Amino acid sequence: MSARFAAPLPQFPLSRRHAMTDPVAFFDEMLATTRSVRRRIDFERTVEPALIYDCIDLAVQAPSSVGGETWRFVVLTEPIRKDAMATLYRKSFDTFLAAQAQELAAQGRTPEPLPPNYRYLADRMQDFPAIIVVCREGRPPADTAGQVAFYSSVIPAAWSLMLALRARRLGTTWTTLHSRYENESADIIGMPSDATAAVVLPVGHMKDARLKRAQRSPARSVTYWNQWGAADGLE
Ligand SMILES: Cc1cc2nc3c(=O)[nH]c(=O)nc-3n(C[C@H](O)[C@H](O)[C@H](O)COP(=O)(O)O)c2cc1C
Repeated sequence: MSARFAAPLPQFPLSRRHAMTDPVAFFDEMLATTRSVRRRIDFERTVEPALIYDCIDLAVQAPSSVGGETWRFVVLTEPIRKDAMATLYRKSFDTFLAAQAQELAAQGRTPEPLPPNYRYLADRMQDFPAIIVVCREGRPPADTAGQVAFYSSVIPAAWSLMLALRARRLGTTWTTLHSRYENESADIIGMPSDATAAVVLPVGHMKDARLKRAQRSPARSVTYWNQWGAADGLE
């Protein structure tokens, strides 16, 4: 085990029953187990529009900057549009892999093979009952402050949407590979040129998905106090 993971992970979840009766425990469970779900999807089961509206109603409670609520959600259910988005995703996926391999080869290295579930998603994206494209009006500005504000007004909503979906046992994966071909993806969803598609979430009811807390660096190894690099002084 690497030093980064040397600290023991907190005990979690306390128990399923606890999570059902204690709102904080339930919320913690949702935050800690909103995993990517690529394979364990019921591809035959429709995702009801009412369920999607419920989740989006929660997503739009997220922060947005002054003059906000610029988010827009395009839900793809028509096979022709899902096929087009999936084809675009595969093209970007293959380009990404090739570019990564080329970059590593230039350094005399070989890429680590991707877990097969990444390829699975690329192969089956069109089969997800719904693909939600989380967009916002406007185009990202050139300056850092503008970019931070721009994406901060849509990314929190997209993450809230993932949490709301997960709470209803709808599986999804955060994907952004469409953005390599953003004009083509805009055409697929009929989005005007003065808007931006930030995240693409393929969505379906989960089937036998086991959602566990991920192995992540403990807070102490990624947290500084008062100054970059400074520990808290506690043992
Ligand atoms: C900015 C960003 C873009 C991502 N794009 C993709 C993507 O296009 N396809 C994909 O399969 N995973 C993508 N991921 C990775 C997954 O969403 C996920 O975070 C990763 O597989 C780790 O799994 P976990 O969240 O269940 O621990 C992306 C993650 C981030 C933060």
